[in-house]
Amino acid sequence: SCDETCRDPSRWAAEFPSCGGLRQSPINIVTSKVHVNSALPPFDFIGHADTINITVENKGQSAHFALPQSVRLTGGALPGQYRAHQFHFHWGGNGRPGSEHTIDGERFPMEMHIVHIKEPYSSLAEAEHDMAGIALLAFLFEETSDDHPHLNTVISALGQVQNNDSSTVIPNFRLSDIIPSAKDLHSYYRYVGSMTTPGCEQAVAWTVFQRTLSISSRQLDAIFQQCRFWTGQPMTDIYRPTQPLDGRVVYRSRADAAVRSTIHVFTLKLRLTIFFGFIQICFRIRWRCDK
Ligand SMILES: *[C@@H]1O[C@H](CO)[C@@H](O)[C@H](O)[C@H]1NC(C)=O
Ligand SMILES: [Zn+2]
Repeated sequence: SCDETCRDPSRWAAEFPSCGGLRQSPINIVTSKVHVNSALPPFDFIGHADTINITVENKGQSAHFALPQSVRLTGGALPGQYRAHQFHFHWGGNGRPGSEHTIDGERFPMEMHIVHIKEPYSSLAEAEHDMAGIALLAFLFEETSDDHPHLNTVISALGQVQNNDSSTVIPNFRLSDIIPSAKDLHSYYRYVGSMTTPGCEQAVAWTVFQRTLSISSRQLDAIFQQCRFWTGQPMTDIYRPTQPLDGRVVYRSRADAAVRSTIHVFTLKLRLTIFFGFIQICFRIRWRCDK
């Protein structure tokens, strides 16, 4: 229904009113303005290390990797247990970065989203009436010289779903091959927002992990060159521009804060050492001058 309007994100709101709302995603995260929140614990991932067969489908504006309901998560200060629904990627093209979230204005080469639906809802449509009905996990990619060892299965699957509505199956897939385990994901940003495609439902508890995933430039090129939009055009630059915060607060979990406070203690010690050293020097000079 949005063949025409979907082309241009600035026109989405005309057909999908939520897209013009006050809790939209993605956003630019300004790290100097995030609020450290000690009530943001790590997640518990369930079924991430299971070997599963997943279906990949070209949806016309991106490619979705469907996940079975056995993949779940709890924790992370989310209000309940969430079932995984699908994951997908946002990318740029020909050297252009394509993440949706930006950090201090920096756009990353690619971003992975894992979409989860809160229990007991069974569909996105049901979950969208709950402000935290959907939990989205976001991973930003950083370009490295070495390939990500497990992304090649994802890339070759994309090569098999080049056209709208085509699909394929990746056998023996493990989500834990792509993303780190929960214990290595203590540091994250949290804010309330929306889906980043129409209808932009404002029902998403967003988690953007500070830890980045790696991808080589060869893999990046292979990703953006394969799929086509529903229009037949190359599927490139598939990200929505960042949206205004509109008074929302972005929180950061404390794992990183623990490191920071250690640094604070250290610099305080250093300052005190310098301060007392200075006083000592003053005393010595005075003592010598007095003599
Ligand atoms: C995956 O598919 C293969 C063959 O298509 C099947 O033998 C296997 O049992 C499936 N694995 C799971 C976990 O469903
Ligand atoms: Zn997305």
